[in-house]
Amino acid sequence: MTAESPKRDSYSQKPRRPSVIVLAAIIVLFAGSTALLAGLLVTILQRKQEAKDPYLRFVNVKDNTTDPAEWGKNWPREYEGYLRTVNPSRTKYGGGATSEGMIPPEKAASNPWLTRMFAGYAFAIDYRDRRGHAYMLTDQENTKRTKERKQPGSCLHCHASIMPLYRLTGAELAPKASPDEQLQTGFVAIGKLDYWEASVRLEKSGNHHPISCVDCHDPRTMQLRVTRPGFINGIKALKSHEGISNYDPNRDATRQEMRSYVCGQCHVEYYCGPKATLFFPWNEGLKVEQIESYYDNYKFEDGHRFFDWKHAETGAEVIKAQHPEFEVWSQGTHGKAGVACADCHMPYMREGALKVSDHWVRSPLLNLNRACQQCHHYPEEELKQRVETIQDRHYALLTRAGAAVVDMLDAIKTTKAAGATEGQLKPMLELQRKAQWRLDFVAAENSMGFHAPQELARILGESIDFSRQAQLAAIGTKSAAAIAAPSPSDAQPPAPSVK
Ligand code: HEC
Ligand code: HEC
Ligand code: HEC
Ligand code: HEC
Ligand code: HEC
Repeated sequence: MTAESPKRDSYSQKPRRPSVIVLAAIIVLFAGSTALLAGLLVTILQRKQEAKDPYLRFVNVKDNTTDPAEWGKNWPREYEGYLRTVNPSRTKYGGGATSEGMIPPEKAASNPWLTRMFAGYAFAIDYRDRRGHAYMLTDQENTKRTKERKQPGSCLHCHASIMPLYRLTGAELAPKASPDEQLQTGFVAIGKLDYWEASVRLEKSGNHHPISCVDCHDPRTMQLRVTRPGFINGIKALKSHEGISNYDPNRDATRQEMRSYVCGQCHVEYYCGPKATLFFPWNEGLKVEQIESYYDNYKFEDGHRFFDWKHAETGAEVIKAQHPEFEVWSQGTHGKAGVACADCHMPYMREGALKVSDHWVRSPLLNLNRACQQCHHYPEEELKQRVETIQDRHYALLTRAGAAVVDMLDAIKTTKAAGATEGQLKPMLELQRKAQWRLDFVAAENSMGFHAPQELARILGESIDFSRQAQLAAIGTKSAAAIAAPSPSDAQPPAPSVK
């Protein structure tokens, strides 16, 4: 029995005064219409919610659910695709391994000039082809770059489902701050740790997974969202440069833009080293010289101009480029036409009445009919041929740019060994920085030219030009140095051979 029952009983009793009946009627009417109205509102809200989240759920996934298997219980088709990213995915230029169990080959095996270009840097000891998303965390843990060199916790930003750890760490360090501030605090703090220390924390927090559903989807609505602080800060800086202040992709981007932004969280150029918090260098734009200009004007805390490492052969302070897929795509025909990463790399497939996005993210060349034929009505063989023609031409030019860098390094090394002064070397080292930055930007991009063929050819042309200018300067300086300070052996004719 509830406390209300006696009251209800008293209503059903015979009323004593008519005014009570009127009052009761008014109350009942009012209560009834309120209930009706409330009911209507609830239904409207439910419908709205259903429109946003049309899914039947078996598991209530949340912001901290990083285990994709949990999400898989609600969305088995997408999960199955995701699991397939363990499969071999080799194409003529793309993918990593040809067979199960094999690790991807070293890039320098087919492009030996890479080892010369990276002299003195961790990329000279181990740098392999990429492969499917399922491997991103183990490949990072197994590379000699983390095993034999010290690396920062920032590396995990793009290789693990790390958001809960950022939030947890931020809450510990700044218990009174807002959730956004805590996230930023956690991002900075984890980034500063040694890689392996951050890795232990990730494991302990129960989030030792590669990219997961929660990194691209809002668990409440399943709509696309971006989570990575590097991207959110980077795109804000880019938009601000374009005159749009306080840009928030999760609020302001279109759905089609989000279909590329989710990938732009990782497939981008970035700085991830010990001297500053991880950032995407987009403050002046996405083109290769805009990024270069931002770096050239960027000063580390110690006041020194930005550089990634000192080249071991020449001493030049050079910049390392990383997989700028997002930047390069944005300069190409498809990017300009609004064709998104997901259109080609996660095309729709039909499963009965359902339209499912293929979560086996991979080379579109393994999936031409769905990836390209939705827009281009040519036979598969012709499409493949078109791509490979672009890639073969691109690869030929890339190889020539690699040869030019090696010739430049040889020439500068010789000049240096012959005693060129710092003042004489300086302009050559500046040219080296420019030549390498361009070549690396193109080589590190993973489409072998396809994402923006003309733009990449333009950049390679510039790289070759800078390499040859440096080479010419070095050759010229060598003789100038020899004239300025003739060595005894130069001054006298060589002694005649007595053999
Ligand atoms: C118009 C279609 C198209 C669009 C749009 C597109 N790509 Fe690609 N992408 C390709 C093709 C074709 C290749 C070359 C694949 C190969 O060589 O096997 C490729 C290659 C890649 C690779 C290397 C794949 C591998 O198997 O090694 C990555 C990574 C990649 N793209 C990421 C992106 C990202 C990120 C975006 C958006 C910023 C994007 N792509 C937009 C068609 C596209
Ligand atoms: C959290 C970071 C992250 C996000 C987000 C991300 N990727 Fe990747 N992607 C990676 C890493 C890391 C690898 C390389 C993994 C390895 O080699 O172990 C990779 C590999 C790939 C490959 C190569 C696959 C193969 O089989 O060779 C393609 C293609 C690709 N990504 C496309 C995309 C597209 C398209 C999106 C957006 C829908 C996307 N990625 C979102 C980090 C990310
Ligand atoms: C901004 C995102 C991002 C950050 C930060 C990042 N990576 Fe990656 N990493 C990627 C993407 C995307 C790929 C796949 C494309 C490729 O291989 O070029 C990748 C590929 C790799 C691979 C496989 C291919 C190779 O290079 O041998 C390794 C290993 C790796 N990263 C290690 C690291 C290490 C170590 C760090 C920290 C110094 C790091 N990553 C930081 C995004 C990132
Ligand atoms: C790299 C980002 C990324 C990750 C990780 C990811 N998705 Fe998606 N997902 C997408 C994109 C892009 C779409 C297309 C959405 C759109 O066009 O609105 C999509 C669409 C979906 C949809 C809507 C129906 C459909 O197939 O188009 C569901 C459901 C879904 N994903 C479930 C998952 C699940 C489950 C996982 C984890 C196993 C996952 N996703 C991981 C990017 C991602
Ligand atoms: C969503 C639609 C769409 C998809 C998917 C798509 N394309 Fe395109 N593609 C375009 C548009 C738009 C253009 C610009 C030319 C035009 O206006 O017809 C274009 C241009 C091209 C060009 C001319 C190249 C250039 O840079 O000018 C090639 C080659 C091409 N596409 C190949 C492909 C291949 C291969 C795939 C699959 C991996 C693909 N496209 C997927 C819409 C698409």
